[in-house]
Amino acid sequence: MNFLWRDETLFRDESVFDPEYVPETLIHRERQMVALAMNLRPALKNLSPVHTILFGSPATGKTSTLRTILREVDDHAIITYVRCPLARTSYRVFSRIFERVYGYPPPNTGISIARMYELICEGLLEKNKPLIVALDDFNFLERNAGNEILYALLKAHEEFGVRIGIILVTTERIELDDKTGAVFHPDEIYFPLYDEDEIRDILAQRVRLGFYDGAITDDAFERIVELTARTSDLRFGIYCSGWPELRLKEERAGRSN
Ligand SMILES: Nc1ncnc2c1ncn2[C@@H]1O[C@H](COP(=O)(O)OP(=O)(O)O)[C@@H](O)[C@H]1O
Ligand SMILES: [Mg+2]
Repeated sequence: MNFLWRDETLFRDESVFDPEYVPETLIHRERQMVALAMNLRPALKNLSPVHTILFGSPATGKTSTLRTILREVDDHAIITYVRCPLARTSYRVFSRIFERVYGYPPPNTGISIARMYELICEGLLEKNKPLIVALDDFNFLERNAGNEILYALLKAHEEFGVRIGIILVTTERIELDDKTGAVFHPDEIYFPLYDEDEIRDILAQRVRLGFYDGAITDDAFERIVELTARTSDLRFGIYCSGWPELRLKEERAGRSN
């Protein structure tokens, strides 16, 4: 259905309105990018990255910041990026780590988590690279899975001497059990909501990348900025910006009111 509305002559690059799209330059997230880069920098020298929590409301750029910085350390570390809503158990998360370390998934004949853990540590020692485990939307893990995963990863350093950096992304305060909380002391990077001017800059960047000039009128664009600021939902703004036809229609309707 959606495609019927689209006009190919308007779009320079329609993919920039895709929810998965991460722009080359993230504006207004300089402080958070620098802080995260500093924490991951030890990986470039084959040392342990600093454990970090990225905390803030939805659509404040946490995932985009993370993915941008992870791209930069890619060659120097084994990176496991997990969207926790899609892998909610310890087993799933460890399977993902195993797959990144070995390049193939664990045997599906029913390998235990304990065995997977040993193999992961052995693989890391052999590869002699640090491991970065990024758990996005950490609060979606099943009950107690978060504690189990963190505790096991932190113990791996003690037991095997492997170098591991953990990055958690969350929209809620994380409550860990006493045992895990006693050994996990991450640095926290806060992501505040964007204000209206920042929203305007971000949406303007998207419109520039996505449309040929003149596809959206200034009035329609301002209205999207205003609505986005009111709902504090940048995703909504990006989605709307990708619909020039609808925006223009709404604008005309607004004028006739
Ligand atoms: N600083 C920014 N510059 C450009 N686009 C951004 C910026 N921050 C967020 N976005 C865009 O807004 C949407 C939500 O960002 P995301 O990183 O997924 O937020 P979060 O992970 O905090 O929920 C994505 O489409 C993303 O590309
Ligand atoms: Mg996110």
